[in-house]
Parts: sequence; structure tokens; C-alpha cells
Amino acid sequence: MAKSVNVAIIGSGVVGSAFINQLNNLKTAIKYNVVYLAKTSTEALYSKTYQPVNLATYQTEAPQPTLSLPDLVTFLKGASRPTILVDNTSSAAIADYYPTFIKEGISIATPNKKAFSSDLKVWNEIFSNSEAPNGGLVYHEATVGAGLPIIGPLRDLVTTGDKVEKIEGIFSGTLSYIFNEFSTTEKSDVKFSDVVKVAKKLGYTEPDPRDDLNGLDVARKVTILARISGFEVESPTSFPVESLIPKELENIESAAEFLEKLPNYDGDIQKIKDEAFAEKKTLRFVGKVDFKENKVSVEIGKYDFDHPFSSLKGSDNVVSIKTERYPNPLIIQGAGAGSEVTAHGVLADTLKIAERIAN
Ligand SMILES: NC(=O)c1ccc[n+]([C@@H]2O[C@H](COP(=O)([O-])OP(=O)(O)OC[C@H]3O[C@@H](n4cnc5c(N)ncnc54)[C@H](OP(=O)(O)O)[C@@H]3O)[C@@H](O)[C@H]2O)c1
Repeated sequence: MAKSVNVAIIGSGVVGSAFINQLNNLKTAIKYNVVYLAKTSTEALYSKTYQPVNLATYQTEAPQPTLSLPDLVTFLKGASRPTILVDNTSSAAIADYYPTFIKEGISIATPNKKAFSSDLKVWNEIFSNSEAPNGGLVYHEATVGAGLPIIGPLRDLVTTGDKVEKIEGIFSGTLSYIFNEFSTTEKSDVKFSDVVKVAKKLGYTEPDPRDDLNGLDVARKVTILARISGFEVESPTSFPVESLIPKELENIESAAEFLEKLPNYDGDIQKIKDEAFAEKKTLRFVGKVDFKENKVSVEIGKYDFDHPFSSLKGSDNVVSIKTERYPNPLIIQGAGAGSEVTAHGVLADTLKIAERIAN
């Protein structure tokens, strides 16, 4: 008989709906029974008899209220097959519940960074339980660089005994776009505030661009990579994170007023850009883990015109990983956001878990 596994999906937003579509079109030997699908935070599809949800028609099917997280654990544990929980939300409440799911033997595949980039205690709890006998497995490739293969290869290097010396990268699609447009290898007078406005108009930024410009999203991703490499980062606010928000504009209420006042501060960053250009360098917003300097940071860095970071295009992400085995760094580059690439990262993780637990 074909092997099978149960799947519980939470979220059907940008990534969730692409994930559901990719799973529905999957052709593999293992059978994936979606026994629970929370379309939103209030509406879910499931049946007491664990009949698989029809992924071709889920959008139009009449939902029931979502189960509370404790009830979801009870429901999933009542089934006869092992279960993979796919969390396609950015919910902190669900992330806080990962240790319980894992202890109960439920595996997790997710692009949600929250659980892996909060307190170190949570990270340790997740991975110690995951490695315990009967603990659920945890795969989270899409938490850094969306679908790009970063976490898997980095873990492989570390678990096989390589030593990371330095990780350096551009981990925000939004800030990649902003700096690629603002600071180029050709002389340009484009203003920082104008680039931010265009990025917002193109839908690249959060509704309030300060949520990108504060650097916290990059800090969360750097926290994850640092921890995998063996750097015990306490939290994403426990190391220096450069904010691109002028101090005076931090507490302004509306995003509209922030954007209106941002041009008043163009001079400061323009000066840094001009100085870099005179040295034949571009500015990029980078996250760094440096074992030699014993330092983790998020900051504006300057890169020679012929450095791979200087020739980055659009909203691509890039990471450079220097290890004992790779003194010439391993460089991974490509789209670091988007529904299809992120969903493929989550689905590939789901498949990896299924290969290990399906019966
Ligand atoms: N979009 C990308 O390119 C990208 C790239 C890399 C990683 N990610 C990560 O992927 C995750 C999903 O991103 P997204 O862009 O798909 O977000 P999104 O479009 O906002 O979708 C989130 C979905 O989760 C649902 N949800 C939230 N809390 C829930 C709960 N407690 N129970 C059930 N459903 C819940 C939301 O429903 P409601 O409307 O009811 O809240 C919504 O359907 C995030 O962690 C994000 O950081 C996204």
C-alpha cells in the first residue's frame, strides 16, 4: 500500500493559497491527506472522520469555526496517521504553540519566522524536543530568503562538521530593491525618499514602510542564521540593528505623514552614498554574523563595484557563507519573496518530513 501522511494547513493568504495549489498538483508516491485547513483565523474545513479536504474546491466550501490550538492538537492526535502542521501565517500565537505540537509528535513546516527568531529559550525548546524520540520534526527553509536554499545547506555544513566563519547577506526584498535603486555603480541623483515612495507604490513595502526600514525583519533572519551556525543570539534585539528611520520620525502616527516628512532627511543618507561612490562602492543593507569579530549586526555596508552585492537586481536576496571548507564564500542568490517561490520552499520541507514519517 502507498505510504500516507496527514497534513493540517493553517492560513490561505498569499503563501498559503499558492501552497495549497502546489500541493493539489503534486504527483508523488506518498499520499497527502489534508485533514484540517484553516482558511483564515476564524474559518476552517475539517470533519470528525478525517475525510480529506478537497483542495480543488476549498475556497467555496462552507467552513466551520477554527479549532483552538489545544483542540487542534487533540483532533490531530486522534487520527491514525502521523501529521505535518503547515503554518502559513505570521501568527505569534501559533508560533508560541510549536513546542507543544512538537512534544505531541506533530511535525512542522513553515515560513513563519516568529518562533525561530524570538527568545533563545524558545529555539532551544523547539529543537531539543524535535530531536527527542517521538518528537515532531521541524523544517523552516522559507523563514530566510523565501524559497532560496539557505537554511538546509547551512545546516548540512554545520552538522557535517564545517565551521562557519562569516555570513553576510541581503535578506529583505524591500530593502534590496530600495538600495539597488538608490545606490548604483553609475552616478545618480535619485533621492532615498523617492525610492521608498516608489517601493511602496509597487507594493514592495509593508503598508507602513517603517516596518521595513526599522531593520527588525532582517534582524530576525540574521538571528536564525546565527543560531544555526552556533552563535547563541539571545533575541533579535540583543545585537546592533541600524534603523533607516530618522529618529524624529519614529513616533509619527501615520505612514502618510512619515512619507511626507522623509525628504527632509535625504541629505544625511545622500552624503554616505556620495562618499561610498567616491571610493567606487555601493551601499547595501546587510545582516552579518562574524565569528572572528564575535559580532552579529544589521547595518548599511559599503561594497566594491565588482562585489556580487553591488550587482544585485530588483528585489533579489543574496547570502555569502564563508566557512573552513568554503574560504571562497558560497554565494546563494535569487528571489527572496513571492508567493510561488515561498510556497515551494514550504512544500519541499513538507515532502522532506513526509519522506521521514509517512507510513
Ligand atoms: N509573502 C511572501 O513573499 C513571504 C516570503 C517569505 C516568508 N513569508 C512568510 O509567510 C507567512 C505568510 O505570509 P503571507 O504573505 O501569505 O501572509 P498573508 O497573505 O497575510 O496570509 C496570512 C494568512 O494566515 C491567516 N491567519 C492568521 N492567523 C491565523 C490563525 N490564528 N489561524 C488561522 N489562520 C490565520 C490569515 O487569515 P486572517 O485574514 O483571518 O488573519 C491569512 O489567511 C508569513 O509568516 C510571512 O512572513 C512570506
